[in-house]
Amino acid sequence: MTHNRDWIDNAKKNAAKVAITHVKDKYIIGLGSGSTVAYAIKELGEKVKIEKLEIFGIPTSYQAFLLATKYGIKITTFEEHPIIDLTIDGADQIDPKLNLIKGMGAALTREKIVASASKTNIIIADKRKKVTCLGIHDHPVPVEVIPFALTQVENQIKKIGGKTVLRKGTGKVGPVITDNGNVILDAFFGLIKNPSQLNHLLKMISGVVETGLFIDQTDLVYLGTPDQTEKIEKK
Ligand code: 5RP
Repeated sequence: MTHNRDWIDNAKKNAAKVAITHVKDKYIIGLGSGSTVAYAIKELGEKVKIEKLEIFGIPTSYQAFLLATKYGIKITTFEEHPIIDLTIDGADQIDPKLNLIKGMGAALTREKIVASASKTNIIIADKRKKVTCLGIHDHPVPVEVIPFALTQVENQIKKIGGKTVLRKGTGKVGPVITDNGNVILDAFFGLIKNPSQLNHLLKMISGVVETGLFIDQTDLVYLGTPDQTEKIEKK
């Protein structure tokens, strides 16, 4: 089934609205990245204004930082607030165990750092992101790589059965450069039967900074459609 732009946008907005109800006064909030989280950050800014909340955000990307400041959300750092109460982030694929593929926005490394520092992680997405198995529909695993190691990492990923494509930028020539100054390899493995094992194998490769496989980090998922939002909790 194909969905038009309005369907997708309204689905994302609905999931974002429900997630924001979890935010409480004095919370430190991890601000994920992507188009769904953009709705959540806008919604959060309105909630902060209306309810006069004293919250601080830790953004996972330059995009999230700019949106947070635009919508009046104060920013903090791990140095000031090492523990995050709640992170709201998006995802590209979500499996039945709530393992994820993330990183189509190239913010995966900071997103994983923030998720690891969070007491609670909520993922918001439109319903299309729910899958039976990660990697389905030939979806790649984004891998952030130190540019110096690019060829070496490509060769190692080939050895473990992946095909890689260096992600190209738009609005510039050449590769996407992440907020950390690195490049992204989109690694295609087909159906990923054991995401945890693949994550470990990828992370063992010298020059890999982080992978877009988020294993056992998600507490709650809100999957939106234009009419309703489905809640899926970690078992
Ligand atoms: C960025 C991400 C995003 O959260 C993910 O790509 C989902 O984005 P969107 O909400 O635009 O579909 O992981 O690195």
